[in-house]
This record gives sequence, structure tokens and C-alpha cells, in this order.
Amino acid sequence: MQVTVYNCRPFDEKDLFIEYAKELGIELVLCADAPEMNNVSLSKGSRCVNVITSKIDAELIHAFRDNGVEYITTRTIGYDHIDLEAAKACGIKVGNAPYGPNGVADYTVMLILMSIRKMGAILGRTALQDYTLAGLNGRELRDLTVGVIGTGRIGATVVHNLSGFGCRVMAFDLYEKEEVKQYAEYVPLTRIWQEADVITLHTPLTEDNHHLIDANTIAQMKDGVVIVNTARGALIDSDAFIEAIENGKIGAAGLDVVENEFGLYYYDHKSDILKNRELALLRSFPNVIVSHHMAFYTKNYVETVVKDSLKSCKLYMEGKENPWEVN
Ligand code: NAI
Repeated sequence: MQVTVYNCRPFDEKDLFIEYAKELGIELVLCADAPEMNNVSLSKGSRCVNVITSKIDAELIHAFRDNGVEYITTRTIGYDHIDLEAAKACGIKVGNAPYGPNGVADYTVMLILMSIRKMGAILGRTALQDYTLAGLNGRELRDLTVGVIGTGRIGATVVHNLSGFGCRVMAFDLYEKEEVKQYAEYVPLTRIWQEADVITLHTPLTEDNHHLIDANTIAQMKDGVVIVNTARGALIDSDAFIEAIENGKIGAAGLDVVENEFGLYYYDHKSDILKNRELALLRSFPNVIVSHHMAFYTKNYVETVVKDSLKSCKLYMEGKENPWEVN
């Protein structure tokens, strides 16, 4: 029972893969790189391959099939990086490995608190041994109204987390959830724009909500509004957003995601000219906290996706019912 694992990170995944594979009786072929035509031969002899978010296109899928691969599992929730049609046409099954919403939900509340307490500026000052107070006066969450847009797995957990802080919570989703109603009031989106002191985004990116936050919606918001985005960068029009930071309409922001981050995040670019002007500008503002799309990144997340992706391969190879199969 052999599985080829691509993109196996040596610093946090490798030891776990070895430990769990031993428990499950699986032989491993470990590769630190993304699957490409020049390393696809590593899949020979494996009925299952294990990948992350790199593109798995039709050419690669055909090559996997020619090597005897029958099942591709991705250590992610999303699987839009895999050409499902090509996989289906080749008779290859695909599975994902969902992880819990708490990591992102906790991180969201952290960004909200850091934004309203000006923590970016505080850390900047203490790093320089500047222990002054002027300009660092914050706000208390219990005095604020938070608007949560998207109350799926993560948004609903954010609402639940916020219930402990005593703030007023408003929510908007295309579909309302009963359990959210005990902690938040569902309202039309326009009321969130008009009444929220803090707005946090938790929807997937779709054609309908591309640039949901733009010059028009920003104009409807309260002066000094705080925006937190741990969902997808393109939910926000960066140009309109930067202008609103510059003119003070937006008071603070916490951004775990930005437009056009693909290809930048998770690589070391410290000696490069940054090819994302908006990101360079956003990073320069003392009231904007930027992190590199890592709200999900916890010990629990790594353990879950490594273990479940291997369990899923084992179930496939044993011909048993597999809750992680998606096609
Ligand atoms: P989910 O699928 O459980 O929930 C999404 C919710 O958004 C659903 O309730 C849906 O009805 C709602 N929705 C969809 N379109 C909408 C619209 N136009 N207006 C209002 N509501 C809308 O998704 P989940 O797991 O809660 O993820 C939410 C977001 O978080 C996604 O964008 C996802 O990509 C992102 N994410 C970010 C991570 C990070 O590390 N920063 C990690 C994991 C997910």
C-alpha cells in the first residue's frame, strides 16, 4: 500500500506523515516539490497521490493514470486546482481533507482586537523602545457593533466567539442559520455597511461578490470603520480600499488575504522587488495589519490534513466507503 506525497513540508509535515503512515501500514514516497511532469515518475507504484494547492492539470492527470494512479487526495478544503473533468475521464477519484473552522475564526477575532487596539503601531513602537502613549488609544469591543458577512463554518464560529465579548453582532448571509440567531441579528447588507464599526468577511469569492467592498460600499460605511478580511483578497477592491485608508474613512484593517497574492505568499521574496504595489502600500500603513494568508495555519490543521488525507487513501485502497471523496 504505497502513497506518493508531493509538497511534503520538511519542517512540519514530514515527521507526521512518517508517524501516521506507520500506524496505517502505508509505504510512503515523499517529495518536497509540487507534482510536475519532471517528477511525475515518483507516482509509479502508488495507487494514491497526495497533493496541496498546485495546479493538477489534464497533462499531469494523464501521466498519473499512465503510472497506475487511481486516487488523488488534496490536503486542502478546496479542490478547484484539480481538473476534475480530466480526472473523471481517466477514472481517477479525487478527495479533499477539510479541517475545522476554529483556527481561522480565532485568528479573525485576533485581527479584530489587534485593529481596534492599534496593535500594529504598538508593536512597531516597542520594537524601537518608544514607550509613549500618544496616538495609541484603543476601543473596547463591547462598545462596538460587528458585522459578519458570511455565516458558514468560519463566520458562524466567529459569531460564537464574539458572543463572549459583549459586542452587538449583525450578520448577513444568503442563507440564514438558526444557531447564529442566538448571538447575532441577520440584517440586509446595507445595514451592515451603515451601522457596523467592524466588518469581517467570511464568504467564498464568487462572480457576484467580487469587489464586494468598493468605493460605493465604502462610502456607505461609518467613518473610521475597521475592516477584517480572512476570506479572499478579491472581495475587496484594493485601489478603493487604499484611498479610503489614505483619507481616513477606513480607520484600521486586518488583512490575511490580498488581491493577487498567488505566487507571492509562502515564498521568500525579501531580496526581490515586490510585484504587487497594492500589497506594498497596504503594508506601509501603521493602521493596517497584513499577514500572509495563514489564518488556517495551526498545529491542529497540520495534524488533521496529514492524518485524514492518509486515512482517505487507505479507505480508497481497501475499497471502503470514503467520506472525503468529492467526485
Ligand atoms: P462555508 O462554505 O462554510 O461558508 C461560506 C458562507 O458564505 C456560506 O454560508 C454561504 O451561504 C455564504 N455566502 C456565499 N456567497 C455569499 C454572498 N455573496 N454574500 C453573503 N454570503 C455568501 O466557507 P468557510 O469554510 O466558512 O470559508 C469562508 C471563507 O474563508 C472562504 O472564502 C474561504 O476561502 C476562506 N478561508 C480562508 C482561510 C485562511 O487561512 N485565511 C482558510 C480557510 C478558508
